[in-house]
Amino acid sequence: MKKLTTTIRRGLHGQLHVPGDKSISHRSIIFGAISSGVTEVNNFLPSEDCLTTIQAFRDMGVVIERSSDHVRVHGTPNGLKLPRHPLNMGNSGTTTRLLLGLLSGQQFTTELFGDASLSRRPMRRVTEPLSQAGARFQVGEKGTLPITVFGQRNLKTLNYRLPVASAQVKSALILAALQTCGESTIIEKLQTRDHTERMLRAFGGEIYQHGRTIQVMGKPQLTGQNVTVPGDMSSAAFFLTAAALLPGSEVTLKNVGLNPTRTGFLDVLKRMGASVDVLNEKKQVEPSGDLRVRHAHLKAIHLSQEEIPSVIDELPLVALLATQAKGTTTITGAEELRVKETDRIAVVAEELTKLGARIEELPDGLIIHGQTALNPQMSDRVDTHGDHRIGMMLAVAALLCDNSLYLENEAAINISYPGFFDDLKQLCEEGTAER
Ligand code: S3P
Repeated sequence: MKKLTTTIRRGLHGQLHVPGDKSISHRSIIFGAISSGVTEVNNFLPSEDCLTTIQAFRDMGVVIERSSDHVRVHGTPNGLKLPRHPLNMGNSGTTTRLLLGLLSGQQFTTELFGDASLSRRPMRRVTEPLSQAGARFQVGEKGTLPITVFGQRNLKTLNYRLPVASAQVKSALILAALQTCGESTIIEKLQTRDHTERMLRAFGGEIYQHGRTIQVMGKPQLTGQNVTVPGDMSSAAFFLTAAALLPGSEVTLKNVGLNPTRTGFLDVLKRMGASVDVLNEKKQVEPSGDLRVRHAHLKAIHLSQEEIPSVIDELPLVALLATQAKGTTTITGAEELRVKETDRIAVVAEELTKLGARIEELPDGLIIHGQTALNPQMSDRVDTHGDHRIGMMLAVAALLCDNSLYLENEAAINISYPGFFDDLKQLCEEGTAER
């Protein structure tokens, strides 16, 4: 159990480099592994989820050297090797789904398993479209892990309209399509993060996008690259939220990824009336820039389906912001939140209610009534429920409380941000130091 910092009087101050982007870190290992030559990755995110991806590829014969946040991947373009034991996916949905796509076209049979949370998450959304292309799986009745993948060398090209807005599913299909002869077409329900498409192009693949239609050419010659991972917008979002909420704050987050499919949270902050400036923008494969945020008075907004994918992982923070905003905020069309590391609709409502927030659950979202002072009500305990993003959201919520608060199952935060509490402390201490 972790005692959370409360009673921040002067807000957050200073500047910080948040760790590398989780989605891009995973993909740098995957593309490095299937390309010829060496891929050098800088600012890799050494969190539990991304280390799961590294371990899985090492288990399949890929030589990967890592020193802190620098990774060197020695590509094996002629195919991965049969692992000696089932592959452990830990808590990582991204590793699992992307590997289901990649392994469906390899030359061996292997089994994937995960922890209790991952073993509840839906996998048929990936195995069904892949099966239409000739892939073979053994999936349990509930459509969850463990799954056996019977790799097939003769996968057919894909032609598939996605019924869910999911970058993981889209990426799995792209990775399968790369192993087929010819052109595959994937149509998204809504545009989701496009890190796979950008990285594939940078490694020499052919992939085209017209609106929500994606065309991928099979059997490309991919070549290892130098990848510099920008800071993770989803990690920056915790400090953006804290600084927006706490009077007196001014924080600058350096070199954060600004891929337009990931910046929905900045739009939400601005619409709520927050003061956010983008500085030193760099236009590159994955654009990045510095984000400066100051405290401001916030107002309620409505968020609907089209906007959800670009802010999907930040929705727990939108709920927290909304508790302090003037008016009633509604989030709809976000049913995907129910199948994340936890049911984030239920867990956000449960945990923020413990602090006195007025929140109603919808089947596909939340209604949050604003400007409620947060403080522990019946108990001084809140819980991550094993979900990293819930844990960090609650640590930010604690900064608004006067009374002590303790976080249970705090180790979950290592899934995406092992140094989170140190970084938060740094910004809080710069706020309390004589200025
Ligand atoms: C991710 C896609 C999203 C996101 C997850 C990472 C990715 O999941 O929530 O944290 O790296 O592709 P879905 O594809 O399930 O929406």
